[in-house]
Amino acid sequence: MKKTIAITRGDGCGPEVVNEGIKILKIVSEFTDYDFEFKDAPAGGEVWKVFGTNLPEKSFDTIKNSDALLFGALGLPDLPPGIAESAIMKIRQSLDLYVNLRPVKLYDILREKCPLKSEFIGSGIDITFVRENTEGLYKNVGNLGEDSAENLMLYTRDGCERIIKFAFEYAKRKGHKILTSVDKANLLNTSKLWRKIFHEMSENYSNIETEDIYIDAFTQWLIRAPHRFQTVVTGNMFGDIISDEGAFLIGSLGMGSSGNIHPGKVSMYEPIHGSAPDIAGKGIANPIGTILSVKLMFEESFNSIEIGNEVDKAVEESLKEGRTVDIKSEKLKTLSTEEMGDLIAEQLKSRLKK
Ligand code: NAI
Ligand code: MG
Repeated sequence: MKKTIAITRGDGCGPEVVNEGIKILKIVSEFTDYDFEFKDAPAGGEVWKVFGTNLPEKSFDTIKNSDALLFGALGLPDLPPGIAESAIMKIRQSLDLYVNLRPVKLYDILREKCPLKSEFIGSGIDITFVRENTEGLYKNVGNLGEDSAENLMLYTRDGCERIIKFAFEYAKRKGHKILTSVDKANLLNTSKLWRKIFHEMSENYSNIETEDIYIDAFTQWLIRAPHRFQTVVTGNMFGDIISDEGAFLIGSLGMGSSGNIHPGKVSMYEPIHGSAPDIAGKGIANPIGTILSVKLMFEESFNSIEIGNEVDKAVEESLKEGRTVDIKSEKLKTLSTEEMGDLIAEQLKSRLKK
């Protein structure tokens, strides 16, 4: 199976973590039927400095013509905010990547790194956030004046239906028993439409229990009883906020993975963290968020749940042997970015050889 993967390393620690993601892809191609061709698609701040654009046409063409995109992070401290980062929005919007998928799984072995007390963690944390990625406030439609400003929060039936359908299908595929929808239907028209569509669609999925929770209540339930959630579907802004809250529960920002997805089309996989200028170039960034984004690539773009599982197991096993500094343990060796990637690659190799 030949696949072309576009590679955007980006700025700061982006190249360091993406290299470890590529390492994992190479192991997979060595021990399975996959054959990957990697094509560079430079974007971001460093690129802007040279070419005066954060997403050269050639890079975008490469991305459009690939099977998937592995993406680091954009942003440089010596550039005004947005100059580098707006390339991400361009990619998401032009490829119509309407699903933002963010799994939040606390490995048992990292329980002590979770900021919650054990009684709140309970039976464990394994939640997937499904966030609408193209509509709502973040389309940035509106005016900015001196004395007032406005943003249009527009949701369409089509837009709600496709993301809610994705969430139901995801929950079904994962064998989840419950799908939670987060909205503000006691106040917002957009949420009233969202909730109506959520209930209409639930008729097609009689095996999946559904619940509606208001966004304000949800933020407290997420730290009070995270174990009660499995798949959580929500709109663009609410999803942005609660998925960051969720990301903090798994031990480090460096562990969080994500996919910007349009099923059946080229989709983008990236760690949730930024370019981390404070640690960039030191070789200490945690590559696991990127490696777990590769896992998502296998599951969502290549329909390969088994390989996704093997990557996940390889990460979990490696955490028993060594860790990067952000999740370090007194009892284990502290590893560099590259060493962490090597350890996971070795684990994966021995799993795929079997
Ligand atoms: P950040 O996520 O880059 O860093 C926040 C904190 O987390 C820092 O202390 C950093 O050292 C730590 N951290 C981040 N990734 C880590 C990793 N892999 N391992 C260990 N520690 C890690 O967020 P910040 O500092 O707010 O933003 C830096 C730049 O990144 C800005 O220009 C921002 O706009 C951009 N950014 C880009 C994103 C993207 O490309 N998708 C997402 C978020 C921010
Ligand atoms: Mg965010």
